[in-house]
Amino acid sequence: MTRGASLSRRAFLGAAALGAGAALAPSRISVARTPAAFVPTKTLTLASGEMDFRLLGADRPATRIYAYDGIPFQELRLPRGTRLEATFENGLDEGSTVHFHGIRMPNEYDGVPTITQPLIQPGGRFVYRIPLDDPGTFFFHPHCDETGQAGRGLVGVLVVEDPRDPEFDAEHVLSLKDWRLAQDGSFLNLSEPDGASKAGTFGATRSVNGAPSLALTAPAGGDVRLRILNVDSTRIMDIGVEGAEAMLIAVDGHALPPVSLDSLPDGVWRMGPAQRIDLALRMPTDGSPVTIGDYRAAKVYSFATLTAKGRVKRGKPAYALPKANIPRADLKKATRHSFTLQQATDSAVKELSLPPDDPLAKALLDSLCVGSTTYWGINQNSWPTGERRSVPPPLATMKADASYRVEIKNETRFPHPVHLHGHAFEVLSSSLDRLPRHLADTVLVQPGEAVEIAFVAAPGDWVFHCHILEHMETGMMGYFRVV
Ligand code: C2O
Ligand code: CU
Repeated sequence: MTRGASLSRRAFLGAAALGAGAALAPSRISVARTPAAFVPTKTLTLASGEMDFRLLGADRPATRIYAYDGIPFQELRLPRGTRLEATFENGLDEGSTVHFHGIRMPNEYDGVPTITQPLIQPGGRFVYRIPLDDPGTFFFHPHCDETGQAGRGLVGVLVVEDPRDPEFDAEHVLSLKDWRLAQDGSFLNLSEPDGASKAGTFGATRSVNGAPSLALTAPAGGDVRLRILNVDSTRIMDIGVEGAEAMLIAVDGHALPPVSLDSLPDGVWRMGPAQRIDLALRMPTDGSPVTIGDYRAAKVYSFATLTAKGRVKRGKPAYALPKANIPRADLKKATRHSFTLQQATDSAVKELSLPPDDPLAKALLDSLCVGSTTYWGINQNSWPTGERRSVPPPLATMKADASYRVEIKNETRFPHPVHLHGHAFEVLSSSLDRLPRHLADTVLVQPGEAVEIAFVAAPGDWVFHCHILEHMETGMMGYFRVV
């Protein structure tokens, strides 16, 4: 959707959307309520807005991007145990919310319009009360018109530090995102039907922390920690390192026993949108550089180089992070579910495409924060479904504190990074035998692959969706109701 279209659509339908909102209200919109025990230890404001940013080069036209607090890829760094009170102020001229991706928290602060909270209109605010009990590399982003808002740069990094972590001589945070830009710096359409219905609509201007690439330093012989985030809307990346042996020490923020990247298939970690990894490596003692790249693209994208600066002498590497403190599913007693990712059938596409000038239908789509066409589904259900008068029924109803094993099967020709809100799940197995056992909040499921995850269900309505944003907005989303 172009920005112009979304603006005029919203301007025209503002009143209708408000009116329809009441009819749409699901049974469980919760009014913000502070759990008795929540005493904030950190308060801050996150203000979304527009700003000029030079993505094409210093002497080329700037791009009007979106950012929180005027800082692209802003990094919040807070200690484990923080009770974060974040007041979101919506400075965009379209509705938005904030979703703290991967954080286990009370459902009412999960940031999903219609499901957990009302959409925050332009000029509106919402207070999120977020416990940061799990250390790791997380991020936050809007959960409405994500293709448009995150596509224009509205993401921030949340690093939850653990004082028990091993010490590193250098640490770098690398947020990877592509941009869809015309020569004059303006945005090309962030979604095209041919992308949305297939592998997604790719940007050609690649970036790390908003720059084409980064020249970083670390002492020769020193230990380096890299926090790498795929905050792109679309692209799947194969992260690899040359010049040093890199150890994978965390996935989606959660520690795993260190495993050498070289020992994984193709010597890379394949990472879809929303996925994060922490790598640890030792700089060569001879002062030679280390490069980090995406090896999936036809032309390798080397996005960072680490050059030796100074020198230290370290003993045997010890990179293991403290064991993640996540409730583990009881695999023997767990209830099983199976979900199949599908291309929507032709009949579904027809049934759900919009009559072009039906204001109620448009208002419904606005309030559900989705696109106008359905290309994808989960177990024959697309979001939104049926008459589109309300939120669809849950994909599954689960019991709080009970254990679940969920199989995710991909029947489509495209990979899908599947995310479950509000939980850290254990990735138990992949039918392609690709993955070490690990904790995650998003798992990439390849065409023809079945991946099994397990978790202990937390109370609330938690969406379960593909994190290729166009897939999510054209049907590949549902939710689990945990009661
Ligand atoms: Cu990054 Cu619905 O999530
Ligand atoms: Cu997908």
